[in-house]
Amino acid sequence: MRKPLSLAAASLLLALTAAHAEHPAGADLHLSTQVRSLLQQEMREVARGTQTLAIALASADWKTLHDTAAMIRSSYILNKQLSAAQKHELEHALPAGFKQLDAEFHARAEKLAHAAEARDHELAAFHYSRLLEGCAACHSNHAKARFPGFASFAPPAHGH
Ligand code: HEC
Repeated sequence: MRKPLSLAAASLLLALTAAHAEHPAGADLHLSTQVRSLLQQEMREVARGTQTLAIALASADWKTLHDTAAMIRSSYILNKQLSAAQKHELEHALPAGFKQLDAEFHARAEKLAHAAEARDHELAAFHYSRLLEGCAACHSNHAKARFPGFASFAPPAHGH
């Protein structure tokens, strides 16, 4: 079994709070053109996968749901074929809050893959919706220039 849900939810909350505290107004990433384009490529794959997941979920296509969630789980920009310099750049350019949101995101994809394995539709739908929240949490904190719709979006769960 995976970590109890309350623990996962608590750590997501922590990650969100940490990201917010560290970058009160959100902090877009400053990446070189090359690394940025790798990240965008990664994101487009994730976005395609997310659409596939929705349809698999709607049609109880457990195999597609599992395989796609597992693909998202392991598609991780830091695991890409990066040069040593690019790895170094990423390690330093990515704020801690970003890394936490990213880790949560991949953990969520893994939970979704497990729910698909268990053929538990309600649980899979739950993890899918939390996965989408993960996209928005990261974009609203770290990609406001790319997604200006988040300009006035304040992540929930933070104190002043
Ligand atoms: C941990 C952070 C993080 C998570 C989680 C995340 N993204 Fe992103 N995403 C980014 C950042 C940062 C950019 C902006 C990259 C840039 O253009 O500088 C981005 C850009 C994108 C883009 C635009 C790519 C392009 O070609 O310009 C799409 C589409 C996208 N994300 C989809 C998703 C979807 C769908 C999810 C969730 C299933 C998701 N992302 C989860 C950080 C994240």
